[in-house]
Amino acid sequence: MRQFKVLTVCLGNICRSPAAQGILENVASYNKIALELDSAGTAAYHVGNPPDSRSIAALKQVSVNIAQQKARQVVQADFNEFDWILAMDKENLANLRQIQPEHSRAKLVMFGEFHPSVSFGEVADPYYGGDEGFTLMREHLTQISEAFVLHLHSSS
Ligand code: 4NP
Repeated sequence: MRQFKVLTVCLGNICRSPAAQGILENVASYNKIALELDSAGTAAYHVGNPPDSRSIAALKQVSVNIAQQKARQVVQADFNEFDWILAMDKENLANLRQIQPEHSRAKLVMFGEFHPSVSFGEVADPYYGGDEGFTLMREHLTQISEAFVLHLHSSS
């Protein structure tokens, strides 16, 4: 199977998409799939910042380290750089559609709905809530990542 380039995208690029990147890297590596990953936000509020400390802590509990990541904003060139762009919620998806060039290389999908037979819906934004939202986010992202990697296996 060839190596896919995958970009995970949320609003701020400090809670969900860095966590999705770290979890997907982990799931891909124990499934022996070569994925090249990055993450970005549709907004520029946190550009240059590390992930939210609550996301870092939630992932550390399962031995996934995302502390070295730095937030960036998604750019149009990403649509020709990546094979997959995975939006965390419907608003992210709508914002990405607005800047998607025609005939872009990337398949743009909502991460939880990339395949018709596996629909997990949106990954809820945990930013304004408590720690339990970050645990739920981690569990949700893990399930979706496992389904996504299976999908890549079965479709290539
Ligand atoms: P994320 O969460 O999109 O999962 O990174 C958020 C982070 C920051 C803000 C909103 C959501 N904010 O409004 O600053």
